[in-house]
Amino acid sequence: MTHTIPPLGLGTYGRTGDAGTAAILDALEIGYRHLDTAQNYDTERQVGEAVRRSGLKRDEVFVTTKVGDQRMDKAQFMPSVERSLEQIGLGPVDLLLIHWPSKNDAIPFEDYMTSLAEARQRGFARLIGVSNFTIDHLERTDRLLGKGAIATNQVELHPYLQSPRLVAHARSMGLPLTAYQPIAKGECARDPLLGRIGETHGVTAAAVALAFLMAEGHIVIPASSSKANLAANFAARSVTLTDAEKASIRTLDRGFRRINPDKAPRWDD
Ligand SMILES: NC(=O)c1ccc[n+]([C@@H]2O[C@H](COP(=O)([O-])OP(=O)(O)OC[C@H]3O[C@@H](n4cnc5c(N)ncnc54)[C@H](OP(=O)(O)O)[C@@H]3O)[C@@H](O)[C@H]2O)c1
Repeated sequence: MTHTIPPLGLGTYGRTGDAGTAAILDALEIGYRHLDTAQNYDTERQVGEAVRRSGLKRDEVFVTTKVGDQRMDKAQFMPSVERSLEQIGLGPVDLLLIHWPSKNDAIPFEDYMTSLAEARQRGFARLIGVSNFTIDHLERTDRLLGKGAIATNQVELHPYLQSPRLVAHARSMGLPLTAYQPIAKGECARDPLLGRIGETHGVTAAAVALAFLMAEGHIVIPASSSKANLAANFAARSVTLTDAEKASIRTLDRGFRRINPDKAPRWDD
């Protein structure tokens, strides 16, 4: 069983129902070996079903799920994880994340973070991590659980939101970031600069966005239900951008954040 997170995975938000299972199965056939789900996506069952139907061995696919912010108190946390494992039906998950930190510590940070560590100790997850955490949350995590306890922080990252402060901090900790909405919900696919770079490499603009994020050291989890887009995005794995191309893509950063609900923390960037 691998303990490292494959750098390109499939986001499964919106891949619900039988159509969702079919899209995930298409992704596995193309070669995706990392699936990202969450209690709040209603896709845990689809992820498990697609892996079983694919004929792949359990240890060939890396599966992540996330504890929803409405189930982080001491009473609900562990039963919710057990329910996730039942829904997915593949045994322990590879990675279990806290989906959102509790705003203003309405649920005590120590409570849900120690529950997360306990879930790993109890064998529900091989690795643990966090999502939508700020630098302050990451520092508190280090103090509470010790350095190196978490495997990733999953945050919104794409060429238009490169989050330099958070990225610098994560690098200093040796913590990989997982980029959600890595093609900005399809917007990068229409970007002229990314398109021009894509032409020279024989790939799409979206693939250039993904290749750029991976070259920056991030893990990416784009979503798609289209077989053509799934394959085009997967092709990002074989793109090597030049230093000049990476430098030009860095200029696209404009701090453009798409996901910023009321429950969001005060972001660093
Ligand atoms: N931790 C969190 O709080 C959080 C928040 C948001 C998302 N996520 C995770 O991140 C994953 C990705 O985010 P997302 O699904 O919201 O957005 P995304 O991956 O940035 O974009 C998905 C959209 O882009 C389109 N698309 C995909 N590939 C394309 C291509 N090559 N060319 C043109 N359009 C393309 C898709 O349409 P088609 O189906 O037509 O291809 C879909 O509408 C989610 O599925 C979820 O797993 C996590």
